[in-house]
Amino acid sequence: MPGERGPSIALAITGASGAIYATRTLAALLSRGVHVEVVISDYGRRLLRDELGDQAAVENLTPYLSAKYGSDVGRGRITLHSNRDLGATLASGSHGCSGMVIVPCSMKTLAGVAHGLSRSLVERAADVMLKERRRLVIVPRETPMSLPQLRNMVLCAEAGAMILPAMPAFYQQPKTLDDLADFMAGKILSALGFDHDLCAPWTGRVAGS
Ligand SMILES: Cc1cc2nc3c(=O)[nH]c(=O)nc-3n(C[C@H](O)[C@H](O)[C@H](O)COP(=O)(O)O)c2cc1C
Repeated sequence: MPGERGPSIALAITGASGAIYATRTLAALLSRGVHVEVVISDYGRRLLRDELGDQAAVENLTPYLSAKYGSDVGRGRITLHSNRDLGATLASGSHGCSGMVIVPCSMKTLAGVAHGLSRSLVERAADVMLKERRRLVIVPRETPMSLPQLRNMVLCAEAGAMILPAMPAFYQQPKTLDDLADFMAGKILSALGFDHDLCAPWTGRVAGS
């Protein structure tokens, strides 16, 4: 498991529905003392406001996370990169970022990663993860999906990414949206190699039965 002072994790937020998955994942990484290098696309910025309100806008993100998820998020650190800055550290394989998650991942960004386009820092950083054989977790959200979108997921999986669709489960008897977000964030943290207690492992029985 990456240590508290270990390498950083990149977290990209793009313009697919599910901003709460991004904020929950970011808060969970920060509360584990992780240095999170955040990149947010223009539509990712819009999504934060549209789905979570002005209080979760990029400029208010750190106070929003502390207010919603607790002061433990202060154990970690955020570096915010511009999605237009293709000269940022994340754009190079020499940077010591050990893994990356794109949550949520739009079909546009998925296509860019699948085809190695590197048009933005999100796409370039993902490309770096693939070429350096590091962990890349892609959390796509769309429904229904077209054949090109399905093929793009296959291309990413063949290149070494983990496709972790935004598909929360219901066997844990979720009561709130936060329960659903906890489930997805837990899956993402597991994929990145972190221990967590965001969702209980399956025991063979539905919770409460
Ligand atoms: C409120 C809202 C919700 C959206 N939801 C999705 C979605 O779930 N999946 C998707 O692929 N695109 C969705 N889009 C469209 C993308 O945001 C759009 O294709 C955008 O160009 C993606 O750019 P990005 O990948 O650079 O963020 C949504 C747009 C808006 C405004």
